[in-house]
Amino acid sequence: MANIKFFSGRVTPIEMHRVRIIQKLNLLPIEERVKAIKRAGNNTFLLKNDDVFLDMLTDSGTNAMSNDQLASMAQADDSYAGSATFYRLEKALQHVFGMKYFLPAHQGRACEHILSKFYIKKPGQVIPMNYHFTTAKVHMTLFGGEILEIPVKEALKVSSTCPFKGNLDVEALKKVIAERGKDGIAYVRMEAGTNLIGGQPYSLQNLREVSAVCRANGITLVQDVSLLSDNLYFCKQREEMCKNMSIHEIALAFAEASDILYFSGRKLGSARGGGICTNSKEHYMNLRDFIPLYEGFLTYGGMSVREMEALAVGMYETLDEDVISQGPQFIEYMVNELVKLGVPTVTPAGGLGCHVDARGFLSHLKDSEYPAGSLASALYLISGIRVMERGTLSEQRNPDGTEPIAHMELIRLALPRRVFTMSQIVYAVDRLNWLYQNRHLVGGLKWIEEPPILRFFFGTLEPMGDWQQKLVAKFKADFGDSL
Ligand code: F0G
Repeated sequence: MANIKFFSGRVTPIEMHRVRIIQKLNLLPIEERVKAIKRAGNNTFLLKNDDVFLDMLTDSGTNAMSNDQLASMAQADDSYAGSATFYRLEKALQHVFGMKYFLPAHQGRACEHILSKFYIKKPGQVIPMNYHFTTAKVHMTLFGGEILEIPVKEALKVSSTCPFKGNLDVEALKKVIAERGKDGIAYVRMEAGTNLIGGQPYSLQNLREVSAVCRANGITLVQDVSLLSDNLYFCKQREEMCKNMSIHEIALAFAEASDILYFSGRKLGSARGGGICTNSKEHYMNLRDFIPLYEGFLTYGGMSVREMEALAVGMYETLDEDVISQGPQFIEYMVNELVKLGVPTVTPAGGLGCHVDARGFLSHLKDSEYPAGSLASALYLISGIRVMERGTLSEQRNPDGTEPIAHMELIRLALPRRVFTMSQIVYAVDRLNWLYQNRHLVGGLKWIEEPPILRFFFGTLEPMGDWQQKLVAKFKADFGDSL
């Protein structure tokens, strides 16, 4: 990370890149935004991008690529079998992780499908983990697995000073193993940059402790490294033993601690794709034959060869601290500004995006009125910013029809890497501040149509009452003719 101090003494993150390709943005007037969010059933996934000003929905497949990544795409070899592109990507992954085998897959959830299919041997086997991710959970439950979240206590607190809220409770893991035995556990899953609880990292120390317990008991340890770049940066910044290690050394240490790594190349490597890495011939052979069956031949696995080239370059770039620090530093800036304004925000700042606590923001709403969904809808209305609900709506309804109230009720303002400028961050903070001052005007949502699986993707909802009209009226009163 570049050490650049300002004369003013202010701490302002500074981009170590310049923007050479741009996309024009459009901010619709608020009357048009009212229509757009209604058409989308108050679900930000269903907004058209033309109706969005700042797309902070996700960092998935939306990170800016480097000139070297774009240039590499021109050399893609589209042979069905034995493509040179595959060997370049395999070499990059071998370099970064020091792992011998690579199985390509079209994206992260495809890896989750294949891993669940092989390693969940019988219904009721548990998968202990620091925290679930939506797609991982669905694949595990489809194969009869049960997720068991055992993060450290600090993990689910909105405000905290714990630097590693993604850590797994090692004592709890030992207890599960004692109770269930090796056969009762499909594998242990550690998710780097724990997505649903605010992009929070785990420490190398914690990973090594988890690994030692798994190895002593003959249990496979799988790491989801989709958000590894943020986690590596946080280890370097926050963990004493990593301070003198290079990013590459930390990455190698992460890989060494586990049996299997899988990732979404839409996040890690800033391209699109995914895959599974391992050093074990046995794990490789367990999974290999599923790749041509579900994904594509072993040398592309459902990925476009152009994306594979960009992914290979992106993997090398992940070892560059200037590259991986940009996201977390911008997020930290945003979180600090919101905290100063009293807006309830997840602390410490994590990776992936800035996470605002909707339960604290809209404390007058009941959980069953979906505060995070309501806040996401309200924020779009008053700013044109698209965020993602990461709360109860993102959970799957219980088999008995009851609502699974999420541990954390968040909206995520994702900051895809190297995409947004500082003034856009300032705008987002300004609009969130205004909304917080006017939070009493925001009401709840109720379902129009609720799909049974991954309901947050396609479900539609409507406001309870006329709160959106009142919010728009207040916006116009305060902002006049401003967009
Ligand atoms: N694991 C983690 C930690 C993720 O964040 C994601 C995707 C996946 C697995 C699945 O990967 O999308 O390539 O199939 N997260 C995206 C998000 C969708 O917006 O947070 P995928």
